Amino acid sequence: MAAERYPVAVLVSGTGTNLQALIDRLHADEREATEIVLVVASSPDAAALERAATAGIPTAVVRKDDHPDRESRDRHLAEVVRGAGPELVVLAGWMSILTEAFLDAFPDRVVNLHPSLLPSFPGMHSIEDALAWGVRYTGVTVHFAEAEVDAGPPVLQEPVPVVYGDSIETLRERVRGAEHRMLCEAVRLFSQGRVSRNPDRRREVQISDEGATR
Ligand code: GRF
Repeated sequence: MAAERYPVAVLVSGTGTNLQALIDRLHADEREATEIVLVVASSPDAAALERAATAGIPTAVVRKDDHPDRESRDRHLAEVVRGAGPELVVLAGWMSILTEAFLDAFPDRVVNLHPSLLPSFPGMHSIEDALAWGVRYTGVTVHFAEAEVDAGPPVLQEPVPVVYGDSIETLRERVRGAEHRMLCEAVRLFSQGRVSRNPDRRREVQISDEGATR
């Protein structure tokens, strides 16, 4: 009998290229431990829904406008996600702030992906901000999600060089390639049980390796 796979839920709002990377490199590869058990979109128009459906992954839509406030949306969202039984919830381009009503349902099990080396350039315009600043490196961060935007401690970070003459599009493309690689790597580490937080110093995240840590 095949071994149980590690169940992951993915929350999306947009085109879903990161979701596609998770599908192609983890979910669809039987040598990988990860199975995506649910994709939830914040809008029925999210192109990511189509990617999930094509891969045969169950989908749901949870719209903020269908609820009187964010907390009630998040209580409903938590129920929908809990129903799929994930070990990890991945925010892969989920563009809506989550409150404790959702986050408390999955303690230390929600991660967000952000296209910069946090704490530099939080928010919606990280690529534009990196170019405007003229930094030589920007990057990618996968971090534990908190109710505050782009604020939780990093699990993985990777620098991406800014090249002379870069446009928003060329830099975005380079960052996106790094996002796809790093998000898959982060989910793999969780599936192997190698990510933990220091219970006393909550911002300290440990990645364990056979015999070594970093
Ligand atoms: C990514 O850049 C992610 O870091 C940010 O939203 C974008 C989603 O892109 N939070 P996609 O929908 O996965 O293509």
